[in-house]
Amino acid sequence: MANERLRERHLAPSILSADFARLGAQVGEVLAAGARVIHVDVMDGHFVPPITIGPLIVGALADQVHSSGAVIDVHLMIERPEALVAEFARAGADAITVHPEATPHLHYALAAIHEAGCDAGAAICPGTPTGVLVEVGDDLDLALCMSVNPGWGGQKFIAASLGKLARMRSGLPETVALEVDGGVNEDTAGAVVDAGANLLVAGSAVFGSDDPAAAFAQIAAAAGFR
Ligand code: DX5
Ligand code: ZN
Repeated sequence: MANERLRERHLAPSILSADFARLGAQVGEVLAAGARVIHVDVMDGHFVPPITIGPLIVGALADQVHSSGAVIDVHLMIERPEALVAEFARAGADAITVHPEATPHLHYALAAIHEAGCDAGAAICPGTPTGVLVEVGDDLDLALCMSVNPGWGGQKFIAASLGKLARMRSGLPETVALEVDGGVNEDTAGAVVDAGANLLVAGSAVFGSDDPAAAFAQIAAAAGFR
């Protein structure tokens, strides 16, 4: 894995819930609070209904994030993600995660991500069995368990994700980072870590707060990360 950051334990703020009119300042607040993985949710209006962020925004944040020693973790909720991997890599992505539900060519997409010089992740929706990831375990740097249905921030954590995380952890090589995304907050952070996750994405729980830096610190503490 190119980025040792992904194997460490981190709370990864998702900019999806940030104030986009002051995006650089908001990212600066969480970097100053200690964030070292910045999660970017890319949605295409097809795989999921909303349209969000493209390579332009990744490129706009890349210098600020990298100069803090942090990495950009791009979560592609788009159909046929393999077509856009190179563009996100050029924009400054460090890790790129695709959904097997969005492409018939998961193995090819992971190879394309590595070819582009990034770490490769695969994310599965709540209804998708874990076996799809086990088949490509040796080609993965990161496995992402969606603990809500993809598309929106601020949804309730799906409790069955805890057992799923544990199955993912035990079924994948130990070098594969395990990320959980959706409904992570002060109340759920401890349980997802206990289930085996080392990367916790949090959007609304961080940026929905009046003080994102304080919220970041509180959730990281609840996770036992500091
Ligand atoms: C949802 C995205 C998440 C989202 C999480 O489709 O993948 O990363 O930002 O939001 P919260 O933390 O509010 O559940
Ligand atoms: Zn995400």
